[in-house]
Amino acid sequence: MEKERLDKLLAGMGTLSRKDVKGMVRDGRVSVNGVTVTDAGLKVSADTDTVCVDGTLQHIQKHIYIMLNKPAGVVSASHAKEDTTVVDLVPPALRRSGLFPAGRLDKDTTGFVLLTDDGDFAHRILSPKNHIPKTYTVGLSDPVTEEQLQILREGLELYDGTRFLSAQAVALSDDRTRVRITICEGKYHQIKRMFAAIGRPVQYLERTHMGSLPLDPDLPRGACRELTEEERRQIESYTQTE
Ligand code: URA
Repeated sequence: MEKERLDKLLAGMGTLSRKDVKGMVRDGRVSVNGVTVTDAGLKVSADTDTVCVDGTLQHIQKHIYIMLNKPAGVVSASHAKEDTTVVDLVPPALRRSGLFPAGRLDKDTTGFVLLTDDGDFAHRILSPKNHIPKTYTVGLSDPVTEEQLQILREGLELYDGTRFLSAQAVALSDDRTRVRITICEGKYHQIKRMFAAIGRPVQYLERTHMGSLPLDPDLPRGACRELTEEERRQIESYTQTE
């Protein structure tokens, strides 16, 4: 199992710097598996070693994976001058340095955003060659016909040459103004451009699934929680290791 330096792991939790950790080690405040540590560079395993500071167990972990239910009006970025970002919504207990959204939703789109500090993981799930399906609920002001949905199912090309691969699309409501659509790409404004191309502009958009993993229905808008190990694997199962 991979081991990391103690100061790196503790600093990775977001509230302490590596310098702080070194000072705490010097003061004899840190123990690993019950033994007081004298070297901040000691290699420890986040999975199997028990790390305590002042006798309190630390939930060290190499990386963090968070499911967030994004409200409208929040931007999918780590920093923004004027807007609230998805990272701003993460409570301090789950904050890590280097936390960022793995994939973007438009400012007015709601729903499932995955945040992580694991660049390799994000790279793999965002890589176009991995085709992770993403499912959305789309609200329209006018009913959509089966023929129009069939165009989305077959894939289409816009006048500017942009091609969208075939999607799964099904009307969710009797009045045909709510559609569930699953795409395996992530082009700029993709869903909005697909529906605009069939003459049905999007009124609202919510991402409900990444891969087979649904947005937790118990997570209110603006709230987030860590993914379980099983959930993280569920998403990762779509990726090939490069
Ligand atoms: N497609 C869009 O048009 N917007 C999003 O936010 C996501 C997918």
